[in-house]
Amino acid sequence: MPSATLLAPDAVLSQKYPFTLPALGYANNAVEPAVDAQTMGIHHDRHHAAYVTNLNKALESQPTLHGYSLGELLMGLRRWPAAVQSVIRNNGGGHANHALFWNLLAPAAAATAAAPNGKLGDMIVRDFGSHEAVNAALKTAAVGQFGSGWSWLVKTATNRLVVRGLPNQDSPLLEGELPIVGIDVWEHAYYLKYQNRRADYVDAVLKRINWDVAGAQVQ
Ligand SMILES: [Fe+2]
Repeated sequence: MPSATLLAPDAVLSQKYPFTLPALGYANNAVEPAVDAQTMGIHHDRHHAAYVTNLNKALESQPTLHGYSLGELLMGLRRWPAAVQSVIRNNGGGHANHALFWNLLAPAAAATAAAPNGKLGDMIVRDFGSHEAVNAALKTAAVGQFGSGWSWLVKTATNRLVVRGLPNQDSPLLEGELPIVGIDVWEHAYYLKYQNRRADYVDAVLKRINWDVAGAQVQ
């Protein structure tokens, strides 16, 4: 039985080469019915693992980058050799994004915050008006994201909260924005259970967001 202790997302952003796949922190079926066990297992054990493997393979021949953390590699993308920028963007982004996503999903049995509170709660009221409004914005961005990507709640460099859709595995960190909530809308995240009903998947995931984890991003 996996530990119920969730890995802090910043622990993954602090990782340096060689990068490692964090444990899921809960059983594959822990977030059912929102996310079915088969999807959870494939998503974490194969998709997320592949981002980590591909990132390590690409950086093996770049020893000058081994001293940088995952967060630094993403935030400083334009500084790195052109040959590895796409790999860092796609696979480094994939590693960071999924590590946060697993932590944001609350196991059904866990006692976690079902609504934003504390500093993040205050910021959401200031910038969106309500929890319902930020959820609606996250859903609109998730459903409207053409093709693969993520719906993000981010904190901008000017300390404002914004919801935006980003394509592929682009991390908000690429633009110096702090990811707070991310909803994976790649088909690999939902197709086995929801097929083309992305909106239903988004509704279900929004009900399982652990707002304590989201709030920890802005402390
Ligand atoms: Fe994914």
